[in-house]
Amino acid sequence: MHLACVDGSLVPLAEARLPVIDDGLLRGDGVFEVVRVYAGTPFVLHEHLERMQRSADNLRLPLAVEHFIRDAHELLIATRPGDCMLRFVATRGGHRITLLEALPEGPPTIALAKIEYQPTLVLDGVKSLSYAGNMLAGRLAKERGCDEALLVTPDGRVLEAPTSSFFLVLDGAIRTPPLSEHILDSITRRRVVALANVEEQELTTADLPRATGAFIASTTREVHPVHRIDDLELDPQDAVVLDAAARTRELIASELAAVVAE
Ligand SMILES: Cc1ncc(COP(=O)(O)O)c(C=O)c1O
Repeated sequence: MHLACVDGSLVPLAEARLPVIDDGLLRGDGVFEVVRVYAGTPFVLHEHLERMQRSADNLRLPLAVEHFIRDAHELLIATRPGDCMLRFVATRGGHRITLLEALPEGPPTIALAKIEYQPTLVLDGVKSLSYAGNMLAGRLAKERGCDEALLVTPDGRVLEAPTSSFFLVLDGAIRTPPLSEHILDSITRRRVVALANVEEQELTTADLPRATGAFIASTTREVHPVHRIDDLELDPQDAVVLDAAARTRELIASELAAVVAE
């Protein structure tokens, strides 16, 4: 974790620099991706870079993802990490950053607080550097004694968490909001939806009291059970949630084994 790659050059992390006039900093104008590294192997790197290319195209930001493949390779060779995250950032100022970060630590099950949020339609599908709203939502949730935010629109539609997708167990089946709700096309969500017989349907806050279980899912969290949404208690050991977690872990392990065997 002691090195970074900036514009293709490895530098000590503490000495990694960007010009202060970069609009990536001044206006949050740029894109990013976070890739999980398992025992030194990045998981579905190309899927992340395809999404990063789409994000950049949507922002009209020139991007050559093959540079990030080379940067990641050099950083992994030089640092030989175990389990961690790779972060890719491309800025409007034309700079390219690749970092290794420790996995966030957290409790095994979490409490969510509903936070009002209105998606910015123009940034649909874009993992842009303008994430202050998402980060603030997480902070507001913590101020309410919870671990993470559940983003809901002012008219009560349930969307996602600030950096994770959201799933609810209703009548024994898993439901998740469709991408048409302006949520991110999460790479983990794709896997959960394919594996666990998930129904994509619009969810509202009125659905929450009928739920028996819930979880959020992301690259860094995999499947993370929820034990409470505001005052609503949920069973974090819900069999459907545990099954989704186990099957997602197995799928990731088998996809990784296939990469290592190549
Ligand atoms: C808004 C949002 N939703 C969902 C996710 C989960 O996406 P993934 O599974 O690709 O990590 C992220 C990831 O950062 C996110 O920012």
